[in-house]
Amino acid sequence: MEKKSIIAGNWKMNKDLDEGVSFVETAQNMLLDLKNVSVIFSPPFIGLSDLKVQSPFFKAAQNCHWEEKGAYTGEISVSMIKSCGAEFVILGHSERRQFFGETDLWVNKKIKAVVSNSLKPIFCVGETLIEREKGETKSLLKKQIEIGLNGINNLQEIIIAYEPVWAIGTGKTATNIQIEEAHMYIKKIVSELCNDIPTIQVLYGGSVKSTNAEELIMVPGVDGFLIGGASLDVKSFCSITQIVEDIQENK
Ligand code: PGA
Repeated sequence: MEKKSIIAGNWKMNKDLDEGVSFVETAQNMLLDLKNVSVIFSPPFIGLSDLKVQSPFFKAAQNCHWEEKGAYTGEISVSMIKSCGAEFVILGHSERRQFFGETDLWVNKKIKAVVSNSLKPIFCVGETLIEREKGETKSLLKKQIEIGLNGINNLQEIIIAYEPVWAIGTGKTATNIQIEEAHMYIKKIVSELCNDIPTIQVLYGGSVKSTNAEELIMVPGVDGFLIGGASLDVKSFCSITQIVEDIQENK
């Protein structure tokens, strides 16, 4: 069975508790009868337990620690996230790699912790502008994926987000050809890892807006979006979601 498209809003370090609660209420009231799309809200940790969602709406954390518990000041474990009713965890986002020194090996440990708690990782990969200009995009994606997914058995449960770092928050989107190439390449690497044709979903992220959503969702290999800036405004987030819903409905 074909999986539903995924529209995930990554709020990053934005929205206090009241703002988050009212955003999620409004969005669920605006997006009635979604049949073809799953919607994921990813608030800062403070919002995880108070945001009330019902399928096809879900919650994601933006990070986790790989240990179950212990002396890790400032960290949060997967079972804590699960106890708040979240079903997804965004991992390896480029901002975590860039500003918090997150490595491929850490991401791998975190993915293992998420999967072993029966939650689903949204595993972010993507090249910087320098890497793209040096022709290193494919080798970088291969390295991030091979290390990140090392030792993971059920790859069908992983969602990958392809986010070219140079397109995040910059207003620049990758071209359709660049996106198709990257998504197809990611699917090929994952199928080689599991010796099968996986039904893994690959989301695109990087300056997705209501004005480019229609074009981007039609790119072969794009199974949904991970949205930063445009996910903070309820109208633009709902408009992107509705565009994808309508396109999938009329396929
Ligand atoms: P953006 O962010 O939509 O603001 O480019 C995407 C992301 O960081 O996930």
